[in-house]
Amino acid sequence: MSHVTIRLRTLWQLKVVTALATMLLTALAAQAMDKAPLRDKWTVQDVATLASMRLKEAGRRPFDPSNAYEQRTEAATLGRALFNDTRLSKNGQVACASCHSADTQFQDGKQFGQGIGTGKRRTMPVMGAVHSPFLFWDGRKDSLWSQALGPMEDAAEHGGNRVRFVKLVHTYYKEQYQAVFGPMPALGKLPENASPSGSEAERAAWSAMHESSREAVNRVFANMGKAIAAFERNISYGESRLDQYAQATVAGEGRGQEVLTQQEVRGLRLFLTKGQCITCHNGPLLTDHAFHNTGVPPIDQAKPDRGRAEGLKKLLHDEFNCLGRYSDAKPEQCGELQFLATNDPSQLAAFRTPSLRNVAERAPYMHAGQLSTLEQVLQHYADSPKAVLGHSELARPGEKHAERQTIRLSASEIQDVAVFLGTLTGPVVQTK
Ligand code: HEC
Ligand code: HEC
Repeated sequence: MSHVTIRLRTLWQLKVVTALATMLLTALAAQAMDKAPLRDKWTVQDVATLASMRLKEAGRRPFDPSNAYEQRTEAATLGRALFNDTRLSKNGQVACASCHSADTQFQDGKQFGQGIGTGKRRTMPVMGAVHSPFLFWDGRKDSLWSQALGPMEDAAEHGGNRVRFVKLVHTYYKEQYQAVFGPMPALGKLPENASPSGSEAERAAWSAMHESSREAVNRVFANMGKAIAAFERNISYGESRLDQYAQATVAGEGRGQEVLTQQEVRGLRLFLTKGQCITCHNGPLLTDHAFHNTGVPPIDQAKPDRGRAEGLKKLLHDEFNCLGRYSDAKPEQCGELQFLATNDPSQLAAFRTPSLRNVAERAPYMHAGQLSTLEQVLQHYADSPKAVLGHSELARPGEKHAERQTIRLSASEIQDVAVFLGTLTGPVVQTK
């Protein structure tokens, strides 16, 4: 288990304890005010957990020290334009918004992302990403801005290259760019297409460029990501029925609990107890932001996705990470990156725990859309199959496990939890 995971777990426990104290005081106050009695009874510990799941506990969007421009309105305006601009693709038809559409939960509802080509993983929603210390299913990026640079050069997504993008910014967005980032660096004479991560010809063209030219291109490319991140951080989840229910329960208001049906409440109880869901899907976004191998079957059995084990290597070698020269952070502000354990066997075929907010609105599920329905996801947990690569953290039926019990869910319990997951749906909120 990495340092980061341990720290986040402790943070969560601390939040539970704080919520516990607040809740005790509120309960006493409620009693004094003679409110309607609670319809559903919960233990003190459960109420504290419910309190920690409320969206408002996510607090203010965390500040990213590696992006000095993320709070600038003009940066967000430029970022919105770039997010929607199909000129930033090889065939002039793909934008970030093609796969992350505001009309469909900022994702695409497909098994694999469809851009210039077909990707290998399921598109993730943009909401909530600002709260995650590591981006993508394998955590190969450590900021929203450096994340945005990935798809632009990915052959299956935008399929472009940074030299072409920087020229496009120069042609179409120069004024907007300069208003945020200051004068555009002198670009000199640039080749048509070039990038250190593109085709053979693009890589050769990149190597042939002067060092100062490469640096200038990288700077503008990084700033494009910073503008996109400024736009993305204004996209978030809104409150769901679960938030109303948790709030009512914490405040001791029986009538407020009626926003959930009895079946949904049964599902919630299973989620917190024998389903063990809360051990990974916890806190206000229903995720521990950590990586786990849960034995989800790979698409290609012969070449299974290595997940976090590969993502970590990429992150540490990424010139656009928090410690890199294009980051605005001081090295001591890159704690997440400096304390990563790189030799942890549990990272093999581990994927990031996704947020469960609005999950009912975005089938199919898992990192490669392997499962089509929430019932299938729950059946997966009840079956807990052996991992094809690495080791599943779940206790498999009939096997002894040091830390976990087998997740046992009957057919009707699976229905209850699936119905409960629907209570996590709320609006998608865009500010500014
Ligand atoms: C072809 C479809 C496609 C396009 C185009 C695309 N994405 Fe994505 N996006 C994906 C897929 C697939 C993933 C998950 C990939 C992975 O984990 O390897 C993803 C992941 C993300 C995430 C990570 C969310 C999280 O919680 O970690 C963000 C943010 C994001 N994309 C933003 C963007 C931006 C910004 C652009 C444009 C520069 C963009 N995407 C273009 C398909 C796409
Ligand atoms: C050991 C940690 C762990 C436990 C326990 C756990 N999950 Fe998950 N969950 C994950 C991870 C990691 C993924 C992503 C796995 C992947 O894509 O390979 C995931 C994926 C999901 C998804 C798919 C979401 C999406 O956007 O694709 C749902 C739904 C879900 N879990 C619900 C539950 C429920 C309900 C329970 C309890 C029965 C549960 N999980 C227990 C870690 C866990």
